[in-house]
Order: sequence, then structure tokens, then C-alpha cells
Amino acid sequence: MSNKLEKAREYELKKEKTIPEEQRPLFHLTPRCGWMNDPNGFSRYNGEYHLFYQYYPYETVWGPMHWGHAVSSDLITWRYLPAALAPDEEYDGAGCFSGSAIETEDGKHMLVYTGVQKKEDENGEIHEYQTQCIAIGDGENYTKYENNPVIRADQLPEGAGIYDFRDPKVWKEDGKYYLVVGNKTEDKDGQILQYVSEDGINWKFEKVVIKNNHRFGVMWECPDYFELDEKQLLLTSPQDMLPEELEFHNGNGTLCVIGSFDKDGNFCEENCQAIDYGIDFYAPQTILAPDGRRLMIGWMQNWDTCGIRRDDFPWFGQMSFPREISLSNNKLIQRPAREIENYYGKRISRQNVLISDSASLSSIEGRCIDMNVRVRSTETDLSYNKFEIRFADNGKAYSTIEYDPTQNIVKIDRKHSGSRRAIVHQRRCKVANNKGEINLRLILDRYSMELFINDGEQVMSMVVLTDVKAEGISFRCQGELLMDVTMHELERA
Ligand code: FRU
Repeated sequence: MSNKLEKAREYELKKEKTIPEEQRPLFHLTPRCGWMNDPNGFSRYNGEYHLFYQYYPYETVWGPMHWGHAVSSDLITWRYLPAALAPDEEYDGAGCFSGSAIETEDGKHMLVYTGVQKKEDENGEIHEYQTQCIAIGDGENYTKYENNPVIRADQLPEGAGIYDFRDPKVWKEDGKYYLVVGNKTEDKDGQILQYVSEDGINWKFEKVVIKNNHRFGVMWECPDYFELDEKQLLLTSPQDMLPEELEFHNGNGTLCVIGSFDKDGNFCEENCQAIDYGIDFYAPQTILAPDGRRLMIGWMQNWDTCGIRRDDFPWFGQMSFPREISLSNNKLIQRPAREIENYYGKRISRQNVLISDSASLSSIEGRCIDMNVRVRSTETDLSYNKFEIRFADNGKAYSTIEYDPTQNIVKIDRKHSGSRRAIVHQRRCKVANNKGEINLRLILDRYSMELFINDGEQVMSMVVLTDVKAEGISFRCQGELLMDVTMHELERA
């Protein structure tokens, strides 16, 4: 083991002990200490789920990337394992960037990641060069392959840029290994490249899977590519997006391209949409669970909103709650992984509650809950023009979810949650016109809110860092409406 990895392992072990449990979310994964960004190497190995993450253990800011590591049997309760990778080789000295993992034919766990190296070019300018590398291990300790990198700049197709070439996602099919990887072309546009290998070590460029053609942002990061409900899906996280109405927002976004293969196996696009319509979600990765479900986890944060932080926390960054994904009418549907039900505590349910101004229902409160709220008009015509759920409320700080049935817009808002930074605190999302009827399912953990609208047709996620003692929940409306609410407290065994 290199000194760098040994030092990281010793450091995280010590530092972790200084972080009280209550300072972390109850069931969203945070870094063992320090900084976390993208999920990496989301895979099954030795009967468990493995999740690695972009990791800088020493500070709560981004630094030379390591890979942190955690395992779980149910995707909710995680156990930390020692850091898996440190930037300790010439080819990855500036960082072990995002990647994926797979079990090899001979039962080993193989990590495929991007190595970043800083080098001076012939004009004396310093550039970061990105290549694809592998490390092979037993689920805890990994050895970098002696002949890394396994995919270099000279294996790029014509027109591909040599600097931005990262985030390989590997899979196995018909006895071969394949991977897709993000690339920024020479003319500054995103594209996803596919490579193929017989042994996982010797890779050959196969094709360009998809080109952005200057539509969604610039560089496309963290691709994932798989079959779902008889369609083919490509997920990616574009940088430098321009907004399109309420579908895509400025900055770092997420994109799901739904398509199918033509007779030559080329990907043909049918529909493009955002993955998450909230504020904090990026770089998701999926896995096929043993029972056939496609599960997705993203970084519940966004590069543009890293300014929302608690200086008293020795960790930064958390993963989203795992989501089951499927398709309906060629649109992405996301639901919280059903494993959440094993964490249900007290259940409270109220039906047909008439709301006509503001209401707090006795016992509906909490910061770790799964709550389903369904509202409808009291008459055939719209009987209300605004509905609001306030949560994480202590009388001073609070956050809201607002539904405007006249415009079919849901808005999330953390402007009053206690943040002192001028960053994005609100986001709006266009939803289906259901004539005043809407279903809002909230997963609240200590420091986040994930909203699943209309049974997963849209999801809006945001970090909320209000003091955990702010547990108030209330409902308001302009006009009157009927509401059904069912809430489960979430608890650990
Ligand atoms: C996405 C990303 C990846 C890269 C990693 C670096 O959030 O920029 O493209 O591999 O983060 O930490």
C-alpha cells in the first residue's frame, strides 16, 4: 500500500471518531470525513452493495481525489470500509476521478476510474490529462494495474479532445466488457464514447454512442448506459447548461436520454428530460439489483450550490436516497427504494382534512420522515390557487414546497432555512395538469428533502441545513382543498 493511501486510511479512522452520529443524516451516506462528491463504483460484490465516492478526507472542500468506500446489504444502512484509492501514481497524481466497478470472470472486484495527471505542454502551459485506469481487489484492498492507464489519448477517435475524457461506466454483455466514457470534443461539445474489451484490460475504441450537438451544456460528465423497460437509456450530467423553460436550469444539470437501438445497434434518441428538477442532484449512477430493479443514486449536491454548508460539520456532501427507476410513456419514473419501509416507525394518517388557511395537524412533525400528501379541490372547479407545505420549521427558519394548480408548477424553497449565502434557494418545476389534484411524497432526512411528485413523475431534491430541532410541519392554502396525509417516522433499529 502506498504512503498516501495508508495516511488517508489512518486519518479517516481517527477523524471519524470525532464526528457524533447526530451530526450526520440518519440514512443518507456522507463521507467518512471531509469531502464527498460523485457516487463511484456502485456495484454488487460478495453479496453486498458497494458504493465508492469521490473523496478528499482531509478537508471539507474538494482536493486531490481519493475513492472512499462503503458497503450495505440494503442500500440504507452503510458501513464504511477503508479508503480504496489514493492519487499515488504518476498517471493519477492529480486525482483518481469518477468511475465504476464490476466483478471479473475470476471473481475479483475491478475498479475502472479516470486518472488525472498534470503535465506541461510544449508551450509551457500546464494541462490536466485524463486517462482510464483500473485497480483490482477483493472488496476492500485494491491494487492498481501495473500497466495503467488502460485507455490513453491515442485511443481517442478523431475530433475528440485530449483533456476532458473521464468517468468510465463499465458493464459486461455477451462475455465481453464494455464501457462508456464522457469526452469534450476539440470544438468544445459533449459526446459519449464506447470501448470494448475481451478481458477488461485491453480496450479498443468501438463507437461514439451519442453527440450533444451543442444542445445540452458543454462537457458531458458521468455517463451511464443501460436497458430499461425495453428501451435504452443514457444518463449524463452536462456542465454549463442553459435553461430551457423549467425543464433544464443553468449550470450543472442532469440529463436522461431515452431511446432504442436501430438494426445496426446504434442508439437512436426518442426523448430527453432532466433527471432531477430540484437544486441538489448530480452525477447519478445505477445498478441492476439481484431482483431485477434498476436502482439509482446521485450526489445530493450541485457544484453550483456548494456554498450551502455548515461550518460546524466535519463532512461535506451526501448521497441521494436510492431510487428505483422505470419508464412510463417514454418518461423516467423514480421512486424511493422500497427498502425504506423496513425503517418505518410510527404511522400517522389523516384523510379528507379540509384546509382553508393554515393547518398544523397534531403529531405531524419531524425531520426523518416519509410523508405522502395528496390534495384535491373540494368542487369540480378549482377551489384553491395555492397549496403550501412548510417543514423544518422552528418559527423562524423553515423551508417550503408550494403547488400552484393554476399554472401546474411546484416550487421548492429553502430561502428561509437559515442559509446566509446568495446562492440558488428556489426551483420550480412544471407538472402534469391534474385539475388541482396532486400527490407529493417527501423523504425528509436530517439535512435534506427529496420530493417525489405524482408517483415519481418528477423528483426535486435539495439540501436543507436547518438545525435538526426545527421539526415543525404545517399546511396552508389560498381557497380550500381536501388533503389526505400519511406519515411514517423513519428510525434505525
Ligand atoms: C463530476 C466530476 C467528474 C469527475 C469528478 C471529479 O461531478 O466533475 O466528471 O470525475 O467530478 O471529482
